[in-house]
Amino acid sequence: MNVVVIGAQWGDEGKGKIVDFLADDADAIVRYSGGANAGHTIVINGEQYALHLVPSGILYPGKVVFLGTGMVIDPEALFAELAMLKERGIEWEGRVFISERAHLVLPRYREMDKTRDAQRKKPIGTTGRGIGTTYSMKSERDGIRLADLQWNDKMAELEPEDRDFLAPYTERLLAMRVNLTAKMHELREANVLMEGAQGALLDLDSGTYPYVSSGMSCSAGAATGAGVGPRALDRILGVFKAYSTRVGNGPMPTEFDEQNQSELYQFVRDTGREYGVTTGRPRRCGYLDLVALRYACQANSIDGLVLTHLDIYDTLDEIEACVAYEIDGKLVTDFPASIEELNRAKPVLQQFSGWKASLKECRSYKKMPKAAREYVEFIESFTETPVDIISVGYERSETFIRRNPWKK
Ligand code: IMP
Ligand code: MG
Repeated sequence: MNVVVIGAQWGDEGKGKIVDFLADDADAIVRYSGGANAGHTIVINGEQYALHLVPSGILYPGKVVFLGTGMVIDPEALFAELAMLKERGIEWEGRVFISERAHLVLPRYREMDKTRDAQRKKPIGTTGRGIGTTYSMKSERDGIRLADLQWNDKMAELEPEDRDFLAPYTERLLAMRVNLTAKMHELREANVLMEGAQGALLDLDSGTYPYVSSGMSCSAGAATGAGVGPRALDRILGVFKAYSTRVGNGPMPTEFDEQNQSELYQFVRDTGREYGVTTGRPRRCGYLDLVALRYACQANSIDGLVLTHLDIYDTLDEIEACVAYEIDGKLVTDFPASIEELNRAKPVLQQFSGWKASLKECRSYKKMPKAAREYVEFIESFTETPVDIISVGYERSETFIRRNPWKK
């Protein structure tokens, strides 16, 4: 069966950790969108790994991983990451494959991303990894796919600097080439984990456009990005944090007030280690936005939610979450498309009592303090989606399952 893991907020929800956790029961892992703009942190026995391109399942010895059709791959970043893995004792040879339909990022695309964003009146805050430029070259039909490396006429048309850049990587890239659709057909009876990047609200179509990334980080992207049809997606999990974060610009209705709530802001940022894995930028932090989360559940047909970073709230007396927006004096409960409306939206907050206890040792829902369960159950009823998995720390082991996504 195929299980999809997407981010249900603006990225950085802890997908890497959850994919790593669920990968134990997977035969293969496919990353289906984005590129080196992503940053996934995984902690195993105190060892921390930061991955950008390689699917998080790589850390399990022997698991096969695929970089999907929906990805944009920077060869320089990929081989740097593979070299880092090798240095740290992760044998990856023979188990990393790349869809021959995936597009390649050229170094000058990184510069183009940065220049273009600098020229915008309202910059998006790109990570500058060439992602937007590569996806737009793809839409323009001027992109370079992995398979094209063997297409002599196409290579002859390239700028000499692009050809020179690709030359030293060509053989190694082609050695990892795979027809992903054929492979997925072979794996149709197996357990395949489909790993998303970024998040529902950074998706090109359903996110807070234009303050989004350029890939399909929605659940539908798992189908095209893994070379299968939508009916092949058996279960869709949406990962979200007990609060909200966002990196880069764009609306965030529940962001804490930096002036009046500086203490809470800094507390969540520091306790939650909310600094970007890819760029090191401090992340913007705010209340859990249930209006946005419910929208993400609906826009992605999320079957089950995965709640992470719940332990960050362990010491608080009181917890608040946003249950509606007030926009120009009106109460709004459906997530608006208009950026201006989102910018004017004031969060309507609901209070919950804190649990004032450490969740770190919790390995079952029953053992969780009542107040923490009440917070979880409110989220479930508001979003009409069950919370299937809860994470209470950074370690792989600090996680528990309420409903196993691999069981039909
Ligand atoms: P780009 O995809 O690098 O052009 O970035 C576009 C926007 O998406 C910027 O606001 C980035 O901060 C944000 N973004 C891209 N990738 C991620 C991610 O993996 N986590 C969080 N934000 C991201
Ligand atoms: Mg990240």
